[in-house]
Amino acid sequence: MREHRVITPSVLYFGTPVAVVSSVNPDGSTNIAPISSYWALDDLIVIGLGATGRTATNLRERPDLVVNLFEDGAWEEIDALGRYTGANPVPTGKRADCRFVADKFAAVGWTPVASSSGGPVRIAEASVHIEAVVTAIDEVADLLVVRARAGTVHADEEIVVAGTSHIDPQRWRPLIYSFRHYFGLGERRGVAPHADVR
Ligand SMILES: Cc1cc2nc3c(=O)[nH]c(=O)nc-3n(C[C@H](O)[C@H](O)[C@H](O)COP(=O)(O)O)c2cc1C
Repeated sequence: MREHRVITPSVLYFGTPVAVVSSVNPDGSTNIAPISSYWALDDLIVIGLGATGRTATNLRERPDLVVNLFEDGAWEEIDALGRYTGANPVPTGKRADCRFVADKFAAVGWTPVASSSGGPVRIAEASVHIEAVVTAIDEVADLLVVRARAGTVHADEEIVVAGTSHIDPQRWRPLIYSFRHYFGLGERRGVAPHADVR
């Protein structure tokens, strides 16, 4: 029998994949920021965002975004990116080591690629790019719950089953953020009966 006790954890980041959100700055350039508090169902994407960051301001004012999905090798760039904000001055409440960076692509050495929508640019180093448009934003205390509709999806050929639109789960190696540690996936444990790829 397991013995449980009451704890008061500082975060409930129980292990979700990491994405980097592209959004449009007031001058038309693209801001990028890592997220892990998000989920997708059909073409609905829901994202939890701190309300004071550049991404939050951008998405309130300009609804186009790209959700860039990264694989586990990119954790160091992602972690560095989490310490940069496109908001100037740095909002109060950000991490003490957070600093303003105007060109985050240059800061982490990534390559911008134009989006089909003409919205914010995609990140060439990401495996999957989901272009999306914000449909609603709910304010919950100092957080935003952003709802978006997914549009065009771009995927690295290396992880797509040839001749299909299916991502091969055996080749897609997402970066997982769990209680502020970065992981890759372990071994496959099973396959759902309705999986697209066997
Ligand atoms: C792995 C990782 C996951 C993160 N997840 C989120 C998240 O889900 N929501 C959020 O608001 N911030 C998240 N952050 C923090 C933001 O990336 C950080 O506050 C960044 O400065 C935001 O940049 P911006 O102000 O330019 O939008 C995460 C950071 C890292 C490194």
